Amino acid sequence: MNNSPKNIVLVGGNGGIGLAMVKRILRVFPYACIHATYHHRCPPLHSPQLTWHQLDLSKPHQIDEFGRSFDHLDWLINCAGVLHTREQGPEKNVESINPHFFMHNIQLNTLPTLLLAQSFFNALRASPAPKLAVLSARVGSISDNHLGGWYSYRCSKAALNMAVKTLAIEWQRRLKQATVLALHPGTTDTQLSKPFQANVPTDKLFHVDEVATDLLALIIASTPNDSGSFWDYSGQTIPW
Ligand SMILES: NC(=O)c1ccc[n+]([C@@H]2O[C@H](COP(=O)([O-])OP(=O)(O)OC[C@H]3O[C@@H](n4cnc5c(N)ncnc54)[C@H](OP(=O)(O)O)[C@@H]3O)[C@@H](O)[C@H]2O)c1
Repeated sequence: MNNSPKNIVLVGGNGGIGLAMVKRILRVFPYACIHATYHHRCPPLHSPQLTWHQLDLSKPHQIDEFGRSFDHLDWLINCAGVLHTREQGPEKNVESINPHFFMHNIQLNTLPTLLLAQSFFNALRASPAPKLAVLSARVGSISDNHLGGWYSYRCSKAALNMAVKTLAIEWQRRLKQATVLALHPGTTDTQLSKPFQANVPTDKLFHVDEVATDLLALIIASTPNDSGSFWDYSGQTIPW
């Protein structure tokens, strides 16, 4: 395939969507080298094309060391994120806001993408068509917020969207061939959405394989003209 990426890093490869993305990339790009990261447990998925790396995104120095260990990278895809912890779920009202939980969301949903962009900048600069794609969420859209609630998650994804937009503008000057995307996967059946699936109609609860197929197709089809876009799984633009 022309313009096929040779080197791909996928962060959050042990997550529901992340692992499905790794499997999909292995099938679609059988000649690419894939470096996938896991946090707690390395998935039992092996291939000569695939190298697993342990990475804790709450540790900036680990992100820095990881990124700087690459000389050349074509695609960087960040599928990591948090919505709830063992102690706390997303807030229903302002009284439930807990500073620690708020910062935890920012620390894992917002900051890592910027630190990854920083540490992989030189490696991406070596690519003729670098792409950075990150999983955001529709609830991070300010103009699409009709229900309220979920303060920490919403704020962290809105901040992530701003980071993506700002990075796209900077890289239009400094990395002209780059494409930077924020993607909404739709409500997908994973650990992250499990506690909140009760009111989701079955036809609106997606399987990870379906989502991985859709998201990878969008990343493949994207061009530098799309840089700074926020798309849902079907390629529809989501308003900021
Ligand atoms: N599922 C949905 O309905 C949905 C909807 C909209 C947006 N999204 C977004 O899609 C992305 C993927 O979600 P998912 O549904 O696949 O969730 P998931 O199955 O819970 O996966 C989340 C991933 O993030 C990783 N992670 C969490 N903390 C980390 C840390 N400190 N360091 C490194 N990795 C860490 C997890 O690793 P460990 O488990 O090992 O900690 C896991 O690999 C998230 O950004 C989410 O906000 C999902």
